[in-house]
Amino acid sequence: MNHFISFRDVEDKEALLEQALSFARDPWQSEDAGRHKTLGMLFFNPSLRTRLSTQQAAYQLGMKVIGLNADQGWKMEFEEGVVMNADRAEHVKEAAAVMSQMVDLIAIRSFPGLTDRDKDYREEVMTGFCKYSRVPILNLESSTLHPLQSFADIMTMEQHRSQDRKNTKVVLTWAPHIRALPQAVANSFSQWTLGYGYDLVITHPEGYELDEAFTPGARIEYDQDKAMEGADFVYAKNWSAYRDYGKILSQDPSWMITSKKMDLTSQGKFMHCLPTRRNLEIADEVLDGPDSLVLKQARNRIFAAQAVLFGLL
Ligand code: CP
Repeated sequence: MNHFISFRDVEDKEALLEQALSFARDPWQSEDAGRHKTLGMLFFNPSLRTRLSTQQAAYQLGMKVIGLNADQGWKMEFEEGVVMNADRAEHVKEAAAVMSQMVDLIAIRSFPGLTDRDKDYREEVMTGFCKYSRVPILNLESSTLHPLQSFADIMTMEQHRSQDRKNTKVVLTWAPHIRALPQAVANSFSQWTLGYGYDLVITHPEGYELDEAFTPGARIEYDQDKAMEGADFVYAKNWSAYRDYGKILSQDPSWMITSKKMDLTSQGKFMHCLPTRRNLEIADEVLDGPDSLVLKQARNRIFAAQAVLFGLL
C-alpha cells in the first residue's frame, strides 16, 4: 500500500482483515512498529470516532501524533495554475510538501460541498495530497469514500456472521434525516461489502440511487420491508441524492428502522457508523437492543486503522 484512499488500495484483503482481527485480540503486539514515526492528522471537518480511533491506533503502534484543525478559516487551494487572489491562502503543493518533511504519514478528513458533483467526485483534496506528498496519505473520510469506517464494518460482520459470506445477506438501507449528508459511507460500505463477497441488497426511496461505480453486483430494492426479509445484517444510513446531486428528496418517517422492521430479518444484527439521530433514523429500541452492533463497530475503528497504519508503515 502506498496510500490508503479506497478499497482499491488494498493489495491482500484477507491478510489485511486477519491483521485487524489480530490487533483486536492483542492490541499492543506491535507497539514498537512505529517508534520514531509521526502521524500528522489534518481535519477540514470535525470528527469524534475517526479522530480518537486513528490516534489510539497510532499510539498502539508506538507512533507520535500531531493533529491540525483546518476547519476554521484555513482555506487551501487545490486547483493547478490558479491565480490565488481570493480567500485561499495556501496551495496543496506547498502544504503537502512541507508536511511531508515533518511527519511520516498524513491522514486527512475532508467532506464534500454537495453542490458540484463533478468536483466532489474528482476528490481534489485526496488527489492533491497524493500528488504532492512524499509520504503515504490515509483517508479519514473524503468527499465520496470512508474506507476506514467500512473496513471496521467488515471486521464487525466477520466477527458476527454465522454463514459464509456469499450466503450472508447484508441490507444497506437509507434512513431519514433532516440534513443533506454525503454518500461516502454508503459508497464505501457497498464497495467493501461486495469486495469481500457478501450478498448485498440496497434499499432506498426512488431517486436515491448511488453512483453505480460503487454498487456492481448489488441488488436494488425500493420496498424496504421486502429488502429486510431474511437479512443477517441491516446497515442503516442516510445519504443525499447522487443524481439530483446533494438534494433531500424524502424525509418519509416510515423508513426509520424499528423493532417491527428488524422482526422481518433472520434475527439480523443492526449496524450504523454513528453519529445517528435517535428516533429519526433509528428507533431507541433498535439502537439500545441486544442485536445492535454500533458500539462494537466503533471499537473496531481502532483496529481497522491500526492494521492500515501498520501496512503503510
Ligand atoms: N463514523 C464516523 O466517521 O464518525 P466521526 O464523524 O465521529 O469520525
